[in-house]
Amino acid sequence: MSNIREVALTAGVSVATVSRALTNPEKVSEESLKKVHDAIKAVGYTPNLLARNFRAAKSFAIVVLVPDITNPFFSQVIQAIEDRAQQKGYAVLLGDTRETSKREQEYVNRVETRLADGVIQLRPQSMSSSTQKIPWVNACGCEGTPGPSIRVDNIAATKAMVGYLTSLGHRRIGVISGLKDNPHSIDRLQGYKSGLTAAGIAFEKELVAEGDFTMWSGQNAAKQFFRLKQMPTAICSMNDEMALGATQALKAGGLRVPEDVSVTGFDDIPYAKYWEPGLTTMAQPAEEIGKLAMDTLLRVIEGEELSNLELVLPTEIVIRQSTCAPPAN
Ligand code: RIB
Repeated sequence: MSNIREVALTAGVSVATVSRALTNPEKVSEESLKKVHDAIKAVGYTPNLLARNFRAAKSFAIVVLVPDITNPFFSQVIQAIEDRAQQKGYAVLLGDTRETSKREQEYVNRVETRLADGVIQLRPQSMSSSTQKIPWVNACGCEGTPGPSIRVDNIAATKAMVGYLTSLGHRRIGVISGLKDNPHSIDRLQGYKSGLTAAGIAFEKELVAEGDFTMWSGQNAAKQFFRLKQMPTAICSMNDEMALGATQALKAGGLRVPEDVSVTGFDDIPYAKYWEPGLTTMAQPAEEIGKLAMDTLLRVIEGEELSNLELVLPTEIVIRQSTCAPPAN
């Protein structure tokens, strides 16, 4: 049976490096980690992981709390976290909180009982106070979410999207929000209002339709606009899923997108490109967010004090076929 010495010999590193790669992978360079993993495969070594975990007093697992696992934006972030975690020798436990603190707490208990080493919170809400004592990182949060946090500037991004629509000539712009008390809805609504103000357009309450970030809610929200005396010529949706649902409802109601109503989203999920018409949207760097979240959590697990760390990543407007100038009349 192969042993750790054989692995070290095959990898061309010391026994101590192999041992560190198994117990503290974050302390080993990517290059050495790869050599060790290749050698483990080559010699057929099976590490005793339970003994390793016991020695290191770690579980080598982390929890990712996600508000809605069916949202493709979060799938992209989770995929990046998982890739990074695997490179670093960690397993990922997924907790779909469905926006409830009770479910969140059940997963947090795993860290408190050492079944996991830390948490990446993808909910924009701040964590409960008990949670803040364990190693955790917030990703996809909002302005004011306690750190360490990795996020985009939701206010500036939505303002920029409204700026793009006004630059096309739109003056009557509807918005589809998430649930009103969701921090993302609050920030993005603020951005929407600032975008209107910057273009000298007064805010009108009737142009806000509430959804809950799901596709069907976008469909329902768009139907509300049909009840108005005058339809908006553009709809700025607070995420892509709702924008896709809204496009369906507009088309079913006999309107053309974008000739009668332009529609924009937020996230740039993979479907946005393949939708008919292709969705103009505000792209968030999902992969980068996930990767940085995992790297940051590993630093916190290692004892670094990063509560003031706030990484704000850039967003970018991706212009596709769902937007054009408003109809002339
Ligand atoms: O939680 C819902 C939305 O917030 C997602 O679609 C994404 O935009 C995230 O930031």
